[in-house]
Amino acid sequence: TFAAVIFDLDGVITDTAHLHFQAWQATAAGIGIAIDAAFNAQLKGISRMDSLERILQHGGKAARYDADARARLAAQKNARYVELLAGLDRRAILPGISELLEALAQRGIAIGLASVSLNAPAILAALGLTSRFNYCVDASRLRRTKPDPEIFLTACAGLQVAPAQAIGIEDAQAGIDAINASGMRSVGIGSDLQGAGLVLDSTAQLNVPLLQAFWSTQPR
Ligand code: BG6
Ligand code: MG
Repeated sequence: TFAAVIFDLDGVITDTAHLHFQAWQATAAGIGIAIDAAFNAQLKGISRMDSLERILQHGGKAARYDADARARLAAQKNARYVELLAGLDRRAILPGISELLEALAQRGIAIGLASVSLNAPAILAALGLTSRFNYCVDASRLRRTKPDPEIFLTACAGLQVAPAQAIGIEDAQAGIDAINASGMRSVGIGSDLQGAGLVLDSTAQLNVPLLQAFWSTQPR
């Protein structure tokens, strides 16, 4: 059976995607760029600076902002985002996740976190989940954002598990692509996800027997 499960954070452990969206929308509006929910879907799983790049491209303004100006916009967005995170606690853990983490730990299955968010450690702490994870990738050390497999390969290495022995759970297309490129098996949460080994509507459907059934139905 599988030796590890590696989780994305935003949209899988807790639903912060709409808070990233609100914060980016306000920051983008401040420089005359409108973004909608459909565009926001392309920002899921994408690092802060890469998200800003996409927003500037979307608004046709990439050439107008140098590195310093970009750093200021990214800091502004993050300040708003951190404000929106205030009051985050255990109640914000998505359905089924606490139970799944508990069941995996009981079975000795390694648990990893693969989030490109620099806020991930603070969010996990606010949710009271830090000690649940055997290894969390340090996003500040990554060279490439999802869909590059680097983050999932780093998580596997940190857990000392081969990618072929691991399942990744993601809510973003870039994340599913990253899992698949790493040689892991992918589980998608939500709709409009292409290429996931298994797609579920909600985290509430996640449990160990379901993951075991998924693992055994599609032998490598
Ligand atoms: C990902 C989110 O988890 O983290 C992205 O899906 C976000 O929307 C990225 O841009 C980076 O987050 P942060 O907290 O470092 O700005
Ligand atoms: Mg996500």
